Amino acid sequence: MRVLLIGGGGRENAIGEALVNAGAELYVISKHRNPGLLRLAKDYGIAKETDVLKVLGYAEKWNVELAFIGPEAPLEAGIVNALEEAGIPVVGPSREAAQLETNKAFARSLMERHDIPGRKLFRVFDSIEEMKRWIDDFGRPVVVKPFGLTGGKGVKVVGYQLRDNEEAKAYAEGLIRKDGRVLIEERTDGVEFTFQVFTDGKRVLPMPLVQDYPHAYENDEGPITGGMGSYSCSNHLLPFVMKDDYEKALKTLKATVEAMRKEGIPYKGILYGQFMLSKEGPVIIEYNARFGDPEAMNVLPLLRTSLLEIAEGIVDGSLCRAEFEKKATVVKYLAPRGYPENPVKGARIEVDEKAIAETGAKLYYASIDENLTLLGSRALAIVGIADTLEEAERIAAAGIGYVRGELFYRKDVGTRRSVEKRIQLMKELGKEFEPFGC
Ligand code: GLY
Repeated sequence: MRVLLIGGGGRENAIGEALVNAGAELYVISKHRNPGLLRLAKDYGIAKETDVLKVLGYAEKWNVELAFIGPEAPLEAGIVNALEEAGIPVVGPSREAAQLETNKAFARSLMERHDIPGRKLFRVFDSIEEMKRWIDDFGRPVVVKPFGLTGGKGVKVVGYQLRDNEEAKAYAEGLIRKDGRVLIEERTDGVEFTFQVFTDGKRVLPMPLVQDYPHAYENDEGPITGGMGSYSCSNHLLPFVMKDDYEKALKTLKATVEAMRKEGIPYKGILYGQFMLSKEGPVIIEYNARFGDPEAMNVLPLLRTSLLEIAEGIVDGSLCRAEFEKKATVVKYLAPRGYPENPVKGARIEVDEKAIAETGAKLYYASIDENLTLLGSRALAIVGIADTLEEAERIAAAGIGYVRGELFYRKDVGTRRSVEKRIQLMKELGKEFEPFGC
């Protein structure tokens, strides 16, 4: 089957690999030539992923039978609507359904209308006066969210990026002046985790839970990035997420898909719930309408079911199984020095692929061109897969030893110490649980 993949990051390298392993003939469109995808693809088109007309042109030229959308920006640009109108089935939600990610107020109101568990208190303001009054009356720490996609960089939380509610009011005022409105939410304390599911609009099939490391530097310090790495456990839970909280989070995602169906905006593709595990249980921080990056690289190499079979099930409404190996995984992203604020660009790096393969690690390329020149974002990811987290981390670290250049990575991703830190945090919040090994 001829399959079009949109996007050129590490996530898409993993999607492309899974599609080719399932027997697809792969065609890729992205802004740059990703060296990993280049060798998997039958043909490769360079275009902005949001350039709907150009994408349609390639899709028709290649006569593709199915399309798979990696990132969120093309979803917001209506790529799914346009491809479907051209008769090409697509794995990914329509522009309207993708509002779960692209319009945070839409997502919060949907949860409220349908009484979806895992909700948070929120308000949308277009008046600066009302916003300030509400924050003063509320009294507790808040989260300020701009409308629309901000690449994870626009959301600011009191106690983290904002010192106090006074700073929150000033930031929110700027957003109202710029965008005409702002979303204010209560802050929820806990530990975040990623829950991705496949859905055909009705049926929801879970993937292993993953924990992402969004901060640039070790010890969860520094600016927020797209994610510097991530891990998952062999039992598909996380050491601080017990089965009952897993079931509650799954219920939230199922209720969300059901609510979208009832509203006449069926959601199909991959739904990603970014949850905060609070003392009371899992709370939705936000939805994403796609695989996570790096989280796709944790789950896709474990997939035992053909991704093509899953994709066909998603588009024709017959999704029935998605099985994953019971292994632990650790993904470590290497990013150009200075990323995310002032990244090195244009420098060449060296990657000894053979030596990396000999360590047992997997390699996915991301923001780097076919000459291994850094393009400014996360450049490549090394993935360890093993029976235990410790072994998976050791494999990923060994693989990294064979990459040279102006890069940095987080040594602490997937280490026992960093996992313990999260367990400790949950205990300090008063959560009662018996952590398990991973
Ligand atoms: N790793 C976070 C995301 O994909 O949005």
